[in-house]
Amino acid sequence: MPNSIRILEVGPRDGLQNEAGEVPVEAKVALVEALAAAGLPEIEVGAFVNPKLVPQMAESAEVFRRMRRREGVVYSALVPNRRGAEAAIEAGADLLSVFASASESFSRRNTNASIAESLARFEPVFEIAAGASRPVRAYVSCAFGCPDEGEVDPTRVASLARELVDAGASEIDVSDTIGVAVPRDVDRVLDAVGAEIDPSRIALHFHDTRGTAIANVMTAIDRGVTRFDSSCGGLGGCPFAPGASGNLATEDLLYVCARSGIETGASLADVAAASSAIGEVLGRRLPSKALAAVRSGVGNDQCRSEDGAARR
Ligand code: HMG
Ligand code: MG
Repeated sequence: MPNSIRILEVGPRDGLQNEAGEVPVEAKVALVEALAAAGLPEIEVGAFVNPKLVPQMAESAEVFRRMRRREGVVYSALVPNRRGAEAAIEAGADLLSVFASASESFSRRNTNASIAESLARFEPVFEIAAGASRPVRAYVSCAFGCPDEGEVDPTRVASLARELVDAGASEIDVSDTIGVAVPRDVDRVLDAVGAEIDPSRIALHFHDTRGTAIANVMTAIDRGVTRFDSSCGGLGGCPFAPGASGNLATEDLLYVCARSGIETGASLADVAAASSAIGEVLGRRLPSKALAAVRSGVGNDQCRSEDGAARR
């Protein structure tokens, strides 16, 4: 089992993209700054996509412009095409994330393009990123199941991962868009993808729709995976996969890691404070169980001592 993992915090992007109400740009900036101060090594700040389809991400350039950067933190952005890549580099993104789908129907629904068309759209993204010396991560959505097509063959996930690595992706973020995976699925998909690409390039992105995300992460950690995405408070969902709930909560991941002796560099208490603040802006409590426990005070003694051990 690895003694540390690296967390990509996707709350400001995957979390907020699904929010219907207005979230002021200052609140988004404050969230990014608080998450960086909490010790998270990478934050997906926003998305450079069609603002008519995802209005909540329309101010991403403004968030990049206003936020104070912390040294050593990677601030990344989601981009679908050349236009997005140019805007993200201009805004100062350190890393670009493209997103493809292992299922044709979700590819169409999410990006109005077939899988092949989206790969063609990524070509200029890889070129622009290389010209600016920025790495590109590639998400593979619906890697464990599709809202339209149901089961997705892991060999399709693996061959798409191979194509994306060949095109220039430094990391493949294997994504459970609708939160259907259980640990046995994680084994099957890791077997297939690990046979096609270097396993050290694999990251995992779980939505916690059915409460299985943390079990999936622990299965993957046992197999040596060290990169995971999570979202503060469990914010999130995809506007193009209605009903799919938020990502694995960062607090839940931090809690399990801290008590398992796995270093993350981040503070549970500080992430919980950031989540509570954005929860107030949104007018509701966020779903993370570990966040609720911090707020209620139950077992806080353990949380505090473990939190200290997990700090950078
Ligand atoms: P399209 O309609 O095929 O492309 O959209 P288009 O080139 O014909 O452009 C249509 C309109 O979008 C035009 O504007 C363009 O200017 C504009 P109009 O003339 O109608 O005013 N446009 C853009 N605007 C800003 N930035 C851009 C950009 N590109 C075009 N980069 C496109 C294709 C992909 C752009 C569109 O379908 C889109 O933006 N979709 C949104 C996809 C999205 O954000 N999904 C959610 C994030 S992915 C996710 O959540 C999954 C993930 O978390 C992993 C997982 O859980 O599975 C990553
Ligand atoms: Mg997602």
